[in-house]
Amino acid sequence: MKGLKKKAEVMTPSDTLLDWARQVLDQAGVAYAALDSRLLLAHAMGCAPEALLSGADVAADPEQRFRQLVQRRAAREPVGKILGFRDFWKDRFHVSADTLEPRPESETLIESVLSLCPQRAAVTSILDLGTGTGCLLLSLLREFPHALGTGVDLSQAALSVAEANAQACGLKDRVRFMLSDWLSAVDGTYDIIVSNPPYIRADDRAHLMPEVRDYDPALALFAGADGLDAYRMLLPRISAYLAPKGLLALEIGAGQSSVVQALGESAGLLHRGTVNDLAGIPRCILFQPMSPLKDLSHA
Ligand SMILES: C[S@@+](CC[C@H](N)C(=O)[O-])C[C@H]1O[C@@H](n2cnc3c(N)ncnc32)[C@H](O)[C@@H]1O
Repeated sequence: MKGLKKKAEVMTPSDTLLDWARQVLDQAGVAYAALDSRLLLAHAMGCAPEALLSGADVAADPEQRFRQLVQRRAAREPVGKILGFRDFWKDRFHVSADTLEPRPESETLIESVLSLCPQRAAVTSILDLGTGTGCLLLSLLREFPHALGTGVDLSQAALSVAEANAQACGLKDRVRFMLSDWLSAVDGTYDIIVSNPPYIRADDRAHLMPEVRDYDPALALFAGADGLDAYRMLLPRISAYLAPKGLLALEIGAGQSSVVQALGESAGLLHRGTVNDLAGIPRCILFQPMSPLKDLSHA
């Protein structure tokens, strides 16, 4: 017991570095200073973050590298952009300066689609509008084993990242990526259409966290004066691309659920529900085409 107690009190060089990093990041206003410190030290040492818990030691070069990484994080570069990847759903996605870093709250969209499509084998086609890293489309292709995917984006650089992610996920043969201004280059109909479009108001830029404002591409963030430009563009046109029993799932920003629901309903879509994220914010809105039966009953 005595020996154990002594061991627990010994500070390894990595503990000292982690303490230093946590203080630097705390002072810089970084939210998860201890977690990010561990991720960055593991990255600098080329080991898994868990290895640091068992007291892995730090040689001189990794220490210097780690100190540089911590200074980048203290300048509010997001940890995912420093590491070059972000984990989302069941996979690890490359990110770059040209892509939005996948967000945990976007997993709400994946969960919502799965809960409304229990017949996984019946889904054969999925369209993702504004695919970025491809995280939504590739995660859905993993869950719907018979589906083929189409991902579009206005950024060719983002599409290159999505292609690399499809390759890394082993899904390259089931997906195609296209440069398209929303639906302009898209044809056909789809069982599932998803989109996490830009939805931030242009004049909210000054209020964003530096991690978002300075490191996510503006094309991925802003959507006009009220943040609704993309929904206004997509909703009136989307029915032509939805299969008769298809499902449309859109990510929305805080406070946008009722107006986006109204936009969908006035485009003739049936509102199937709105799902909150883990913070209790309405995050995903679901629509289906009006069923032909229902239309007849109104005739
Ligand atoms: C909020 S990001 C979402 C990225 C990814 N789907 C995700 O959930 O992490 C929005 C994406 O829409 C793309 N985008 C913006 N305007 C577009 C347009 N007019 N046509 C197609 N894609 C567009 C951006 O380049 C960006 O990749």
